[in-house]
Amino acid sequence: MSLLRIDASIRHEGSTSRALADIAQAQWLDTASTTQIVQREIGTTPLPNDAWAQAITSGATPGEERTPEQRSASSLAATLVDELAEAEAYLFAVPLYNFGVSQHFKSYVDLVIADPRMSPGITPVTAGKPGVLVTVQGGNYSPGTPREGWDHATPWMRRILEDVWQIDLEVVTREFTLVGVNPALDAFTDAAAGLKSDAEQRAHRTGRELAERQLQAASR
Ligand SMILES: Cc1cc2nc3c(=O)[nH]c(=O)nc-3n(C[C@H](O)[C@H](O)[C@H](O)COP(=O)(O)O)c2cc1C
Repeated sequence: MSLLRIDASIRHEGSTSRALADIAQAQWLDTASTTQIVQREIGTTPLPNDAWAQAITSGATPGEERTPEQRSASSLAATLVDELAEAEAYLFAVPLYNFGVSQHFKSYVDLVIADPRMSPGITPVTAGKPGVLVTVQGGNYSPGTPREGWDHATPWMRRILEDVWQIDLEVVTREFTLVGVNPALDAFTDAAAGLKSDAEQRAHRTGRELAERQLQAASR
């Protein structure tokens, strides 16, 4: 089996999204030890920011007229989609930045969709495969909180991964990661500890359950 992992945090040290994804991945490997993990780092090694436009214009340009930049961008998009096609399951770890989706994850999604195999109207190479989306937020935007609705990243990522890419998706969320970092949030110390523990348990359970499901599917 193979698992494609995508990390979008802009840091390694102290990254809570990577830590949660590590838990899910460890449980996955514990359950299905022969799983091959393929990692793509998009947070600290971002995709070139002109690649999307080059890939899009490349698709509208006759082959012999394409520039080297267009060819290179199309080739990068194809590599990303090859990774998605070859994987049997996915693990995405994406933090909330500025109330929206990480620009690196948006660039990744845009470039993937520039490849003809992920075009609208075609069954995507990801269809029907299981995946985990790990999201983390410094604050808390859950129902009943003063800023409910300010997390504009999770709904968009769900739309892409579940509806457009048709991944059988589980979402693991950890709110309040800035508690203990930002003194203005000190009043939420206990709540944050509970949310951290809940998220870790969910990452643990989700990694194990998805691997078990994959093992069952492989044995049929
Ligand atoms: C530039 C920047 C912008 C951020 N914007 C938000 C935000 O709008 N809302 C929020 O709740 N947290 C925000 N955060 C906090 C991150 O979501 C939080 O630190 C998260 O844990 C980062 O993921 P990581 O721990 O995997 O690196 C921001 C962090 C950075 C660095």
